[in-house]
Amino acid sequence: MSHTQTVLVKSTDTSVIQAASTALSELDGYRLIYCEDDKSASSRLDELKIDLIFYDLDPKNFGPDNALTQSRLSHAACSRIVVCSNAEMADGARVCEDTASYLYLIKPLAEKQIRMAVKRALEHAELSRRHRLLSRELKLSLDEDMFGKTESGSVQGGVSRFERLVYASSKMAEVVAEAKVAATTDMPVLIRGATGTGKELLARAIHFNSNRANSPMHSQNCGGVSDDALYSELFGHVRGGFPGAIADRLGLFRAADGGTVFLDEVSEVSPQFQVALLRFLQEGEVKPLGSDKTLNSDVRIIAASNRSIEEMVEKGQFRRDLYYRLKGFQLELPALKDRKEDIPVLTNFFVEKYAGVVGRRVLGVTTEVLNKLENFPFPGNVRELETEVQRLVAVAEQGGYIALRHLSEKISNAPTPNDESTDFMPSGATLKEKVESLEQAILTQSLTACHWNQSKVADELGISRVGLANKIKRYGLRKG
Ligand SMILES: Nc1ncnc2c1ncn2[C@@H]1O[C@H](COP(=O)(O)OP(=O)(O)OP(=O)(O)O)[C@@H](O)[C@H]1O
Ligand SMILES: [Mg+2]
Repeated sequence: MSHTQTVLVKSTDTSVIQAASTALSELDGYRLIYCEDDKSASSRLDELKIDLIFYDLDPKNFGPDNALTQSRLSHAACSRIVVCSNAEMADGARVCEDTASYLYLIKPLAEKQIRMAVKRALEHAELSRRHRLLSRELKLSLDEDMFGKTESGSVQGGVSRFERLVYASSKMAEVVAEAKVAATTDMPVLIRGATGTGKELLARAIHFNSNRANSPMHSQNCGGVSDDALYSELFGHVRGGFPGAIADRLGLFRAADGGTVFLDEVSEVSPQFQVALLRFLQEGEVKPLGSDKTLNSDVRIIAASNRSIEEMVEKGQFRRDLYYRLKGFQLELPALKDRKEDIPVLTNFFVEKYAGVVGRRVLGVTTEVLNKLENFPFPGNVRELETEVQRLVAVAEQGGYIALRHLSEKISNAPTPNDESTDFMPSGATLKEKVESLEQAILTQSLTACHWNQSKVADELGISRVGLANKIKRYGLRKG
């Protein structure tokens, strides 16, 4: 440690002060500051960046606002060493424990002992600091790209995880249970789910829990790609195989040999390409474009689709035989609005994730915010929630909670069940009855709000005065 370390010595004992001042010399990179009591020590702590408190314990005057406790609570980077007399050893040990001090030393103190203890305590603090930083980085990198060989599924405080999937709902628990079974096999898996529900995350989780985990997983989006391009991406091509093919290309099916290929938006492939896929699924044979050699590849296929392939089969838009091949296991990820129990755990997960990314301290979200989030339909599912939370973390005050005022308009304006709007829930059986009861409720509300000023109400609702009068008569509305 080359830079100067500031040590605060709190003591009235001249032998302690003497020993500390010779042990921790300026030449060794220490700057010493002396205080006689807790009060002045505390104000020093607030004024200066203190690296270590060398604290001579006086058990009779050790109150709740002592400098050790204070430094522990509000000066995270400061280390502590407790000094006590032989007779006060029990107090010293207890205080050391309670204030998470590095160690306690018994008087009389030898210079060498002080030097060593201080050096160790500072090294320890530096190591913990680095450890904290590295753990955070590690956690982020686990979150961000591949997730190493951490435990695959775990439950903690009601929050469950399957690789990077976070959930609490029983619906997700069911899907994950099936996915875990699928992972033990080599069968193709078809994952269906609306946009942003976590299809790709689930595919990765299956791959990393299968015995193919040590081989690669490659992904290919099949939507909006021409047949030729898709063919050469998946099956590869040889040089000159088509105009512009200036070098051989391996293709993902061969590159992922022994591993998994994830076919995203598989519903989008053309009828011709469906034939090629089917052949591959049946034979495991790869014929690169422009080559007459047939090669073998052992890959497991996981496919995903937003659309119901079953319906497409019924309509003749997707080959039935290919559909049956693909759905060795069929997993369906529910929309986020149908598993609201996941919203709180996902929100907290994303708050931590993004607070970590941007290095901000955010305490969490308020109950009102959670209510709003739980009642928002999230057409973009988890991805939309994630984007919202990412924004919230950026706009929240440092060290504060995410509050209603931070929410985007689309979410804060969405009605919640506690809003008055539920009073409008129309009763009645037929559509006509429902519309009428809704109309009646709106009229009653406006009339009451405008104290039965009919011109005002007509104006507000955009109908004529006569029209309003007719409706009042028809529904038998009365000033109440
Ligand atoms: N259960 C979950 N836990 C944590 N993060 C999730 C979860 N579900 C989805 N996400 C996150 O939401 C985003 C969308 O997930 P993913 O890409 O897997 O969805 P998708 O269904 O493939 O979407 P699309 O149909 O739009 O391709 C990603 O950033 C992912 O990390
Ligand atoms: Mg996707």
